[in-house]
Amino acid sequence: MHTSKVAMVTGPAQGIGRAIAERLLNSGWSLVAIDRQAEGLQSLQALAPERVATALLDVTADDAPEQAMALARSRFGRLDALINNAGIGRPKPMHLTDDAELDRFLNVNLRSVFRFSRQALGLIGQGGCMVHVASTFGLMGNPGASAYAATKAALIGLTRQMAVDYGPKGLRINAVAPGLIHTELIADRLDQPAFRRLMVDTIPFPRLGKPSDVAAAVAFLCSEDASFINGHVLVIDGGWSATNWVGSGGPA
Ligand SMILES: NC(=O)c1ccc[n+]([C@@H]2O[C@H](COP(=O)([O-])OP(=O)(O)OC[C@H]3O[C@@H](n4cnc5c(N)ncnc54)[C@H](O)[C@@H]3O)[C@@H](O)[C@H]2O)c1
Repeated sequence: MHTSKVAMVTGPAQGIGRAIAERLLNSGWSLVAIDRQAEGLQSLQALAPERVATALLDVTADDAPEQAMALARSRFGRLDALINNAGIGRPKPMHLTDDAELDRFLNVNLRSVFRFSRQALGLIGQGGCMVHVASTFGLMGNPGASAYAATKAALIGLTRQMAVDYGPKGLRINAVAPGLIHTELIADRLDQPAFRRLMVDTIPFPRLGKPSDVAAAVAFLCSEDASFINGHVLVIDGGWSATNWVGSGGPA
């Protein structure tokens, strides 16, 4: 039996998922890394070849959850945590969102999370946990976010539901809701005035979020220190969702 704890992270090739993967590796976890980007997976594996198993998979593929769990079982013989991070952004308002676009968001951001979680229930034992990467957009209304916000709100509902159903079996199911985190998902919009007004100027803290901010929260939720935290949504947004205050510099 493999002795270090094993976490599966979806979408660890870059961005938030990468930071989560590195943070867990640095804390002694072994990793099952699932992504559709080969290069990112290779560089992750190179960090700790003995402790990282990778699979080049699209999380929406019918057999992806089964293949991913089979890899965890064959390589490590166990799974202790599932981090459902893979996701897509750039939503449009509802009237500009056709069925194909709606299905794309539902498939990547929600259906795959449901299916990976269901498959993992057969492998993660008592004391294990799952963390779904939701968003502050799942908690609050924002212009033009329709399909994305719907999937992230659904993840929050799924978190609470799973916590109730599987908590009694000794599993903890939580979510993180990041605000604006500086990754490729948002990088090219940072100099758009409308985006800055909505997402940057309204953060009551003097910096953008970093992938490592989310990684630290996920590592905490997976740790013994969080052993009585179940069904929680941990917001990591510098206070963005705590206020509608707009300005800079704070009170005079
Ligand atoms: N960046 C932000 O401001 C922000 C805010 C809130 C929530 N989030 C959420 O955090 C998560 C990660 O976002 P990010 O900013 O790191 O994005 P990113 O685009 O930088 O990285 C996403 C990763 O997921 C992988 N991925 C996407 N679709 C996949 C699929 N179908 N199959 C396999 N892998 C797939 C990509 O290859 C990539 O490695 C997403 O769920 C996103 O919605 C991000």
